[in-house]
Amino acid sequence: MADLRSELAASPGATTERPEETGVVHEHELVAAPTVLPLIDGRSLDVWAYNGQVPGPVLRARLGDRLRIRVVNRLPQPTSVHWHGVRLDNAMDGVPGVTQPPIAPGESFTYEIVARDAGTFWFHPHIRGSEQVERGLHGMLIVEDPRDPPVRELAWFVDDWRLDRLGAIDPAFVTPHDLAHDGRWGNVVTVNGRAGLSESVGAGERIRMRLVNVANGRVFAPRVVGAEARVIAFDGRPTSEPLSLDGLVLAPGNRVDLEVAAPMQSGAEVSVFDVFGQRRRTLARLLVRGEATRSDARPFVTTRSPDWRCASELDADLVYALAARRGGPHGIEWTLNGEAMRAEHHGADAAHDTLETGRFVKMRFVNESARLHPMHLHGQFFRVLARDGVSVHEGHWRDTVLVGPRETVEIGLVPEDAGQWALHCHVLEHHDSGMMTVVRVLDRG
Ligand code: C2O
Ligand code: CU
Repeated sequence: MADLRSELAASPGATTERPEETGVVHEHELVAAPTVLPLIDGRSLDVWAYNGQVPGPVLRARLGDRLRIRVVNRLPQPTSVHWHGVRLDNAMDGVPGVTQPPIAPGESFTYEIVARDAGTFWFHPHIRGSEQVERGLHGMLIVEDPRDPPVRELAWFVDDWRLDRLGAIDPAFVTPHDLAHDGRWGNVVTVNGRAGLSESVGAGERIRMRLVNVANGRVFAPRVVGAEARVIAFDGRPTSEPLSLDGLVLAPGNRVDLEVAAPMQSGAEVSVFDVFGQRRRTLARLLVRGEATRSDARPFVTTRSPDWRCASELDADLVYALAARRGGPHGIEWTLNGEAMRAEHHGADAAHDTLETGRFVKMRFVNESARLHPMHLHGQFFRVLARDGVSVHEGHWRDTVLVGPRETVEIGLVPEDAGQWALHCHVLEHHDSGMMTVVRVLDRG
């Protein structure tokens, strides 16, 4: 089997090359602080925000550019920023207790990142995310590939909020109910902080729509009616070819980029809706106005996704059982292989499992529970190999995969970067109650 493994690791597209550095440096400051904003239906909402805005800033860079971001903590609790999906120097990964100490109130930390992959990424705190992300701390990082056609872009944060009877963010976080279910599912769904967002587009306009699911636990299955739409990227990497939206699921943490061709008739309406629940709900609308515009018709960049279906005959190198038990500070804790890792227990020796750069590895997630677990691995892209023993060829890479009730999902990857990388459930209540581990990637040189 050693041969098959090395064949898989050497397959075209399994690993990537670093772009040349451009020498361009983007300096930003992100101040995390409480504020009040008109949100949802325009009501005043007490939130925690980056630079006074919810959703937070959309930072942009081009492949090979450098970002230097000073994060200032004006919150009443420690924080950190994790750059979800971004391959970077491990010390910049923003995981308190593993890659850096938490940023205490009043303090700051400067992150430095070289944009190695073009795509849609996002950033959020990596400590008490169940509270900090829910209160409004999330932003987008878009890395542009100069080979892509320059089309109009929409950056949409899809979210939900649990409001209490007075209309404020319900301050009960990580409740036993959240823990016994798929985390905190809110009673209001928003796009860019608005219920019923609508945007105007030109007739015939070609749009790149970047969606990120920043909800604590809610899963979306976005669909588009009234326009042609195709998936051109997933989790920050282009697909191998434009794909249909059939079966598309956007779990917490996932991003999807859609190419949408607006209809030619002025006055037409395009709606983006969610079909994950029983009830189909509209997320946002595009209203077609004005003259037909001509836009660049060149195709978007694609990425190679090697066919790894033959990996199904390999044994899994690492197996993770996903389960819950009574105990811990919240009454219920979520575990990986019977262990709950909480922020206070992180440490330099946090890693249990060791991988090596350049070596194909197969991981298996066995969901022993009836809940949903979007499993996220930091610092790497992976492919889904199989679901419940059936081989899968998705046509794209990911950094987060939804593992359904009692489901077994296998993934494959070839690690490229040494470091201590978090592996956790992106249902933030599950994460905060222990559903995390750390894998160490050693440089094989
Ligand atoms: Cu988006 Cu470890 O998180
Ligand atoms: Cu989970």
